[in-house]
Amino acid sequence: MEELQVLIRRLLWMFTAMFTLIITFFVGVFTYEPSTETVWIPESEPPQTEPWQPKNVLYELAKMTPQVRRGYFLIAETPKYMGPNAEEVTQRFTGNTLACANCHLKAGSQAGAASWVGVVDRYPQFGGRANKLGTIQDRINGCMQRSMNGKALDPDSDTMKAIVAYMDWLGEGLPDTRKKEFKGYPKIQIPEVAVNLEKGKRIYTKECVPCHMQDGQGVLLDDASKGYQYPPLWGNNSFNEGAGMHRVLTAAQFIKSNMPFGEATWDNPKLTDEEAYHVAGYINSFERPSKEGTENDYPDKKSKPVSTPYGPWADDFSAEQHKYGPFPPIMEYYREQYNITKTK
Ligand code: HEC
Ligand code: HEC
Repeated sequence: MEELQVLIRRLLWMFTAMFTLIITFFVGVFTYEPSTETVWIPESEPPQTEPWQPKNVLYELAKMTPQVRRGYFLIAETPKYMGPNAEEVTQRFTGNTLACANCHLKAGSQAGAASWVGVVDRYPQFGGRANKLGTIQDRINGCMQRSMNGKALDPDSDTMKAIVAYMDWLGEGLPDTRKKEFKGYPKIQIPEVAVNLEKGKRIYTKECVPCHMQDGQGVLLDDASKGYQYPPLWGNNSFNEGAGMHRVLTAAQFIKSNMPFGEATWDNPKLTDEEAYHVAGYINSFERPSKEGTENDYPDKKSKPVSTPYGPWADDFSAEQHKYGPFPPIMEYYREQYNITKTK
């Protein structure tokens, strides 16, 4: 009898212990929350302690290969090496004294500023402006001939190769999950109204004049051969009429995420979408270099971005409306007429 009691007691103990274990297990499973900081690391990659960060370009300058370093100077101090007054006469390719990095901030490493991190892998890519598959060299020459108001580089030249090598270097190690962040500009909500130049001027005076000056001509660096401390926004030394920045919607996206410089970033902007839009219209209301042959851009006119300020277009909206909006009615027209959904 005694023995039976002992046996029962032991069995009870065993069940209680097992029961507790099982409960503990399930409580653990159901209350487990993975930390949001956790980074999933594929097995094939070496373990990482820090999440991937874009390169700190200036810090790495000394470690670059000579070709990559040359690429860096070409894009950061463009006027000195490729500008209209460049020492080497055969290298005078750009028509203005901007640097590529005046728009592609932090030497092309800044997210939300049409960065070049991972850009080489995005090409060849279909481009509506030429209506064909374009290479990274074609795209660079697009900015050479428009943003820089200059001439195309020979795709096989050492200059072009150095620029591409630099861009390639910037994208080293970029994880797939971060690719989107480094592409283009964050979109803005497109206002229903047309640009109001009076509002644009007020915003410009308050937010932009301290650096870009009232006349929009900016301020040169102490060593003027290297270009600007604060680049010009219109006039002879600015981007030409065929440039992407001359489209109000593109300029508004850039401004929203990047200006005023040092204050606004893509994840912490200062201006509202509508403020960025009015001021983008304002800076694009002034004279700038013209571009020949823009009528041939977008051989398929239906693919032309709605805020392209020069014709011809595949619609009857006025030149004024293509420059200053309102854009939603134009977008609606393409949806109804051609079944095309336009985002820009
Ligand atoms: C604190 C100074 C500062 C303020 C304020 C500022 N910017 Fe800029 N802006 C810069 C600098 C510096 C660059 C070039 C960045 C570089 O080279 O790294 C630049 C570049 C630009 C560019 C592209 C390059 C070009 O010349 O076209 C545009 C467009 C622009 N700014 C518009 C604006 C607008 C619009 C405002 C007001 C909403 C503004 N900025 C306010 C300093 C400023
Ligand atoms: C006035 C401003 C400006 C300047 C200066 C400029 N760019 Fe650009 N660049 C742009 C804009 C705007 C885009 C299109 C961004 C978008 O809509 O995603 C662009 C796009 C590009 C792209 C394609 C990016 C991508 O994600 O596909 C490359 C490459 C490029 N630029 C290279 C250059 C080089 C090299 C220079 C100097 C020779 C230069 N740019 C000078 C404004 C500029």
